[in-house]
Amino acid sequence: MNSAPFPRRILLGITGGIAAYKSAELVRRLRERGAEVQVVMTAAATAFITPLTLQALSGRPVRTGLMDPQAEAAMSHIELARWAECLLIAPASADFIARLAHGLADDLLSTVCLASEAPLVVAPAMNRVMWQHPATRANCAVLAARGARLLGPADGEQACGEVGAGRMLEPPALVEALAVTAPAVDLRGLTVLITAGPTREPLDPVRFLTNRSSGKMGYAVAEAARDAGARVILVSGPVHLPAPAGVTCVRVEQAEAMRAAVLQHVAAADLFIATAAVADYRPAERAAGKIKKNGERLTLDLEPTPDILAEVAGRASPPFTVGFAAETERVAEYAEGKRRRKKLDMIAANQVDDQGLGFDSDDNALTVFWDGGARSLPSQSKSALARALLALVAERMGRAPVSA
Ligand code: PMT
Repeated sequence: MNSAPFPRRILLGITGGIAAYKSAELVRRLRERGAEVQVVMTAAATAFITPLTLQALSGRPVRTGLMDPQAEAAMSHIELARWAECLLIAPASADFIARLAHGLADDLLSTVCLASEAPLVVAPAMNRVMWQHPATRANCAVLAARGARLLGPADGEQACGEVGAGRMLEPPALVEALAVTAPAVDLRGLTVLITAGPTREPLDPVRFLTNRSSGKMGYAVAEAARDAGARVILVSGPVHLPAPAGVTCVRVEQAEAMRAAVLQHVAAADLFIATAAVADYRPAERAAGKIKKNGERLTLDLEPTPDILAEVAGRASPPFTVGFAAETERVAEYAEGKRRRKKLDMIAANQVDDQGLGFDSDDNALTVFWDGGARSLPSQSKSALARALLALVAERMGRAPVSA
């Protein structure tokens, strides 16, 4: 398991939003893990939950104001910034994320964030439209590029009655995420292009050929690359996952559109990782109207789709190219065959007939092959697996590992 020592001194920043009520449980769970928790609230946060509640749960006076001479005398904002081993902002409102992105220091919490060298972890919570707004996307991208970790948000019903991405992750998930090692790889300065999910190849206006890919593997790779400091472009087939924060996400449906999006971005890419389950065949013709049932057998005429991965690897100066291979048998032989045929730097093979691994599961296992070598990455969550895969890719690219 990819575990790090749990941070001992956590500065929990609470900003104004209905999810602030979850902070009470968050404080309790952080303390259960042995952490000291110093709560700092924005003025808006105090309208949602009282400092007294959080003081009782954290066992420490809650800080709210920058200009409070008594509190500053006990521990100044600079001392607070130095004390923290980790800054966790949960919930992080759209407004506070914007202030962080712009380096504002007009209240205690923003000032501490600016004055601290501790890792910054941000758990966004807001209305789904605010979350999708280009301003928020840009602000999150700025934070991610500076090395902040963005946890969530989750999808679901929102306090405003809408449904979508914007809910703060639940406290147990946040605590687990804090326990996971910071990325073991440094991809700063690199552009990583990733394909994910299935494609849909239309038969007629209402039917299509597709497969069971959920996009979870590719989205996990995109998040891990972002957390490692890369600029990430994710070309995604139709999936039910929200676009990861701080990642440029291009949504497509058909293999041809996925190819076009990849070719549009590939010249800028240093690394290409093809996790998508691209349909190998598509109907040779798309019927203009709905195909009618007439009781007879129906034969479909299928033609191959363009092989995006082979085309990228075959370019005059290709990025470092990593393919995936989903195999039901003779995994090593078939995967190695694909790697050589498509001229790939690496291929990550998964056995997809195992119950619970591969397509549409939360966990996966990979065997990664390159010229003259192979390594098995055992069954684990797709997030942990993505980090392990990127560490291996970075090693093969000759990038120095991050020192502890
Ligand atoms: O999305 P999830 O539910 O999380 O599932 C993850 C996964 C099982 C889809 C993923 O781990 C995986 O194995 N992806 C590759 C699946 C696949 O279609 O493999 P393939 O052997 O058909 O293709 C080999 C490689 O060529 C792949 O990198 C694929 O993206 C690429 N390819 C294939 C066909 C094509 N026309 N263009 C391509 O780029």
